[in-house]
Amino acid sequence: MPALGYGTYPITGDEGVAVFGRAIEDGYRMLDSAASYGNETEVGAAVRESSVPRSELFVTTKLRGESHGRDETLKAFEGSLTRLGLDYVDLYLIHWPLPRLDRYVDTWRAFVELREEGLVRSVGVSNFMPEHVDRLVDETGVVPAVNQVEMHPYFPQPAQRAYDAGRGIVTQAWSPLGRKSDLLGNETLDDVAYEVGVTPGQAVLRWHVQHGSVPLPKSEDPTRMAQNLDVFSFSLSEEQMGRLDGIATGERVGGHPLEHEEF
Ligand SMILES: NC(=O)c1ccc[n+]([C@@H]2O[C@H](COP(=O)([O-])OP(=O)(O)OC[C@H]3O[C@@H](n4cnc5c(N)ncnc54)[C@H](OP(=O)(O)O)[C@@H]3O)[C@@H](O)[C@H]2O)c1
Repeated sequence: MPALGYGTYPITGDEGVAVFGRAIEDGYRMLDSAASYGNETEVGAAVRESSVPRSELFVTTKLRGESHGRDETLKAFEGSLTRLGLDYVDLYLIHWPLPRLDRYVDTWRAFVELREEGLVRSVGVSNFMPEHVDRLVDETGVVPAVNQVEMHPYFPQPAQRAYDAGRGIVTQAWSPLGRKSDLLGNETLDDVAYEVGVTPGQAVLRWHVQHGSVPLPKSEDPTRMAQNLDVFSFSLSEEQMGRLDGIATGERVGGHPLEHEEF
């Protein structure tokens, strides 16, 4: 899996196909989509129209809440694959655990079937807390390859990352730039970025890479798209990493996995 991916939400339509195509031309190799983003058709079109071979691209999509349950999952996946127009998906994620429904274990069994059929290369989860992953593993014996969770310097998720690492699960970071919070205007971040000679966005994305998480930044701006990918030619010192760790507020920009419901 690439060490950084392109976040596709909420980009749709013809503009979406063009932006995703530009992302691939820029050098992004992983596109993060979801059934609920309404852009699988556009992501698939960009992948099929690209001159980069399919085998070098990594396509992720996610199961929406209304499709939890074994049979529902198999049907929903068929829809995703049809919209994408691809032969397989690289990574399929359960978008949210929806603990109130209590169907994520059945959903997971269907994910494992899809992987065994070769329609999905890897299966994983999103917004799963340790208690949810523990249940999957206890009841099916199959460990998710990836857990995609909210993570940025204001909400750095040290316990979740340690848990994931202990299970051999890769942590992907959504809203890696803190979405619309004031993170990118933070003074400490600004100082660190200035010292290194990069933009605040690049310093944050480098912080993710050095923590071993896989960030999925979203940008529609050509300059920022290119900058966000250019985070492998410099590094932050331990001291600079520590200063960025120190700006954590514990505040989320998105929903809490125990409460958030979207269908
Ligand atoms: N699994 C889940 O439940 C879940 C939830 C939320 C998101 N996601 C995924 O994570 C991706 C990213 O999350 P997100 O869109 O919420 O947040 P984000 O990537 O942290 O932030 C995106 C915002 O930052 C701006 N931006 C991007 N690069 C910048 C830079 N270098 N400097 C300044 N501003 C910059 C973008 O505007 P411009 O476009 O104008 O640059 C946009 O307003 C989504 O696209 C989606 O794929 C997953």
